[in-house]
Amino acid sequence: MIANGDITTPEKARHVLEYTGADGIMIGRAAQGWPWIFREIAHYLANGTILPEPPVEEIRDTLLGIWTICMNFMESTPACGWRANTFPGTAKAGRGAVFRDQVNRAETVEQQLAMTREFFDRLATGEEMAA
Ligand SMILES: Cc1cc2nc3c(=O)[nH]c(=O)nc-3n(C[C@H](O)[C@H](O)[C@H](O)COP(=O)(O)O)c2cc1C
Repeated sequence: MIANGDITTPEKARHVLEYTGADGIMIGRAAQGWPWIFREIAHYLANGTILPEPPVEEIRDTLLGIWTICMNFMESTPACGWRANTFPGTAKAGRGAVFRDQVNRAETVEQQLAMTREFFDRLATGEEMAA
């Protein structure tokens, strides 16, 4: 049996497994915004500790990689539902939310990719960003 629905954190994953006795779990929406949830859950189930978040560069490259694949197959990128507001360093001044809003209103995929590169490059260098 596979359990599914509203599993968004490693703690919830363990709770659902224990509560239901399921053989496994399936993650839907939480993985759309944060694909690292799978390794975070696997690590938590094995060790009982929370993995640190991936470096900004890894988030940037993963996001750009997924969007490039989407662009090649569909000539568009999916709406930026990523957990931009909680990316490392973005909590202050709502920078992540501003970024997400701007990317979602960009007129071309090329603009979206360029804005995403710029956003993460500035995060990676710790540069202060205008909100
Ligand atoms: C965009 C989207 C598309 C989905 N498409 C299907 C589908 O085609 N067939 C299906 O059985 N469930 C579909 N679901 C339901 C998911 O498989 C899952 O049961 C549901 O999202 C609850 O899990 P979650 O809380 O981890 O997202 C879809 C969910 C979302 C968000």
